[in-house]
Amino acid sequence: MVQTDFGGPDAVFPQDVPEPVCGPRDVVVKVAYCGLNRLDLLQLQGPGLIPGFRLPHVPGMDFAGTVVATGSAVSSVVPGDRVIADPTQGCGSCPRCAVGDRAYCVSPRIIGGNAPGALAEYVLATAESVVQVPESLPLAAAVTLPTAFATAWHAVHNVGSLAAGETLVVHAGASAVSLAAVALAKRAGATVVAFAGSDAKRAAAREAGADLVLPNDEPDAAKTVTAFTGGDGADLVLDHVGADTWRTSLDCLGIRGRLILMGNTGGDQVSFSLQEVFHRGLKLLGTGGYTSADFVAATSACFADGLHLPIAAIVPLEDLAGAWGLLAARATIGKVVITP
Ligand SMILES: NC(=O)c1ccc[n+]([C@@H]2O[C@H](COP(=O)([O-])OP(=O)(O)OC[C@H]3O[C@@H](n4cnc5c(N)ncnc54)[C@H](OP(=O)(O)O)[C@@H]3O)[C@@H](O)[C@H]2O)c1
Ligand SMILES: [Zn+2]
Repeated sequence: MVQTDFGGPDAVFPQDVPEPVCGPRDVVVKVAYCGLNRLDLLQLQGPGLIPGFRLPHVPGMDFAGTVVATGSAVSSVVPGDRVIADPTQGCGSCPRCAVGDRAYCVSPRIIGGNAPGALAEYVLATAESVVQVPESLPLAAAVTLPTAFATAWHAVHNVGSLAAGETLVVHAGASAVSLAAVALAKRAGATVVAFAGSDAKRAAAREAGADLVLPNDEPDAAKTVTAFTGGDGADLVLDHVGADTWRTSLDCLGIRGRLILMGNTGGDQVSFSLQEVFHRGLKLLGTGGYTSADFVAATSACFADGLHLPIAAIVPLEDLAGAWGLLAARATIGKVVITP
């Protein structure tokens, strides 16, 4: 599927493009499933957000499939292996890549971001970015892991340092990233409070392990959370909604609480009292992109514990327009998955 313009779903249509050719460190994967991300939708609507984005563009960051070709220097996987990949591909030689921080590579290649994506029969990835999927995990489940769980791992563990016994609050509790965060937080022995916008979304958050689920319009939401924590307030809040949830996020936090800022779906601009933040010893933490180690740790944990996201819908490539519509309508629980 090739995006030739910005706008709605009719800016993306099937087109023949050359099959990818392996460099020495690369693999070619036959795509079984592609998982949509909010970024795919945002780049469809425009403008391109990832540096280096150019039209025409093949969208699709997350994929699961089977290796069909490997470069001359690749020994970690062979044709026939079932894999998923970190869509963030470093150059492999800059200082950020050297420390495993591909997200801040000087010239990153991001599958479906600024490089051809996985809404295609074949996709090119570096061998170092792929991990093998255990036989026990269906590829349709594996495709729900890459961006959501690596992002959540980065937020919960790497930046948020969530400890057993602490309380985590998430907004948009049935979103892909939040469901992954709930699962990882429960696995780490934390207590979880999840806000979500419908009964079905709250049920999904509870199913993922949330101990308390609340509607977005819960009156005195922060008081409810504070009472639930015995008066202490939350230790960690994950907020990828932004402007609409900012006030609740700050109010839920206990003394020296940590607020993770990791998205702006509900608006970008906020204001707050500096005094409130420094008097209460709050820590405001931006996450940015996850590291290579986060990706490996997150996928390893999922494989070991059988974690994956619910699938909001499996949609054939011909119905891609409908799939974009589900994301745009704020109607999804977990991942929208496309079959090519
Ligand atoms: N920092 C990073 O590296 C990183 C990586 C991946 C994703 N993200 C960001 O994290 C956010 C969540 O990603 P996701 O894939 O989990 O999203 P998703 O599955 O599409 O879920 C988005 C949810 O956000 C809530 N929401 C609140 N205000 C909204 C609005 N104005 N429009 C649409 N939804 C709204 C809705 O839940 P309710 O109806 O329950 O409120 C919705 O279901 C996005 O902003 C994404 O860009 C950041
Ligand atoms: Zn690099």
